[in-house]
Amino acid sequence: MGCGWFLLLWVLPQAWGSSEVLRRSVLFRCLQISSFTNSSWMRTDALAWLGELQTHSWSNASDTISFVKPWAQGTFSSQQWVHLQNIFRVFRSSFTRDIQGFAKMLSLEYPMELQLSGGCEVHPGNVFLCVAYQGEHILSFQGTAWEPAPQAPQRVDLVIKVLNQDQGTRESVQWLLNDICPQYVNGLLETGKSELEKQVKPEAWLSRRPSPGPGHLLLVCHVSGFYPKPVWVMWMRGEQEQQGTQRGDILPNGDETWYLRATLDVAAGEAAGLACRVKHNSLGEQDLVLHWDGSHTSVGVVLLVVTCLGFLFMLILGLTFWIRKRSSYEDFL
Ligand SMILES: *[C@@H]1O[C@H](CO)[C@@H](O)[C@H](O)[C@H]1NC(C)=O
Ligand SMILES: *[C@@H]1O[C@H](CO)[C@@H](O)[C@H](O)[C@H]1NC(C)=O
Repeated sequence: MGCGWFLLLWVLPQAWGSSEVLRRSVLFRCLQISSFTNSSWMRTDALAWLGELQTHSWSNASDTISFVKPWAQGTFSSQQWVHLQNIFRVFRSSFTRDIQGFAKMLSLEYPMELQLSGGCEVHPGNVFLCVAYQGEHILSFQGTAWEPAPQAPQRVDLVIKVLNQDQGTRESVQWLLNDICPQYVNGLLETGKSELEKQVKPEAWLSRRPSPGPGHLLLVCHVSGFYPKPVWVMWMRGEQEQQGTQRGDILPNGDETWYLRATLDVAAGEAAGLACRVKHNSLGEQDLVLHWDGSHTSVGVVLLVVTCLGFLFMLILGLTFWIRKRSSYEDFL
C-alpha cells in the first residue's frame, strides 16, 4: 500500500456526481512537522485528527500531548495514556537525534523540513506511516519494514538500511499501527460519538455576479452552515445536471460548520428555469432546491441604489428646511 491512497480517501468524499459522496470514512491521522534550522536549532510539533475534527496537538515546548477535544483520551485509562505518551516522548527526542545523525552522514544541507504522517482507518482496517523530506514523500512503513518511495533519491536506500537494522523500533511501529491505533480509534468513536454524529442542516441562497462575458450572467448558489463536510451542490435544469457548474473550495465558518458556493456562467436569456440543488446527510432524502427567478439583483447594486436614493432624500429634505428657515428669517426682517 503506497502513501498516495490515504490522500485519495480525503479527495474522494469531495468528489461529486454520485450519491456515495455522502458516505463517511473514519480516518485517524497524526501529522508531525519537524523543522531543522541548523545543526543545533530545531522544533517538532504535532497534530491529530479524527475525520475532520482535530483531537490532539503537541507543541515543541510541551512535554505532554494536549487534548483538543475533551473526549480525546478515548477509552484508554490514564495509566495507558501516560504509557503511550512516554513512548512518543522518547520517540520525539530520538527522532531529533537520528535526523541530526543522518544529516551528518549524508551531508544534508540545512534548513530541513520533515513531515511524518501516520494513522489508521477502522472499517475497513488500513494503516499508514509515511515520511516526507523537503515536501517530497521519501519513505514509508510497509507491513514489517521501511521502504523507499517510488521516486525517492538513491541516498534514501542508505537511510532505509540503517532504519531496518533497528528491530526494536520496527516492532514498536508495528504494534502502534496494527494494535494500538485501531483500539484507540474505536474508543474515540465511542467517547466522541455525539460530536462525530453531529448533523447541521445547510442554508442556501442565490445571488448573481457580473460575468466577464457580455450578455452573460454568473449565477451563484451559496450553501452555508452545514456539518459534516461532505456535500453535493449542482445547478440543474429540471433533472439535468449543468456540467458547467463550478464548485469553490469548502471553507470553514467560525462555528465549526462549512460554507461552499457553486457558480454557473449562463447566457442572460437562459437563466430562467435553472435551480440549485443541495444534497447533505442532515437533509435525508429531502434535497434543498432553490429556483432562479431572475430577481436576484446583486447585493452591490442594491446597496448603491439605496445609498444614492437615501442621499438624494436627505439633500432634498435639508434644502427644503433651509429654504423654509431662510424665508421665515426674511419674514422677520
Ligand atoms: C541556529 O539558528 C538559530 C535561530 O535562527 C540561531 O539563533 C543560531 O545562532 C543558529 N546556530 C548556528 C550554530 O548557526
Ligand atoms: C524544541 O524542543 C527541544 C527539546 O525540548 C529544545 O531543545 C529546542 O530548543 C526546542 N526548539 C525551539 C525552537 O524552541
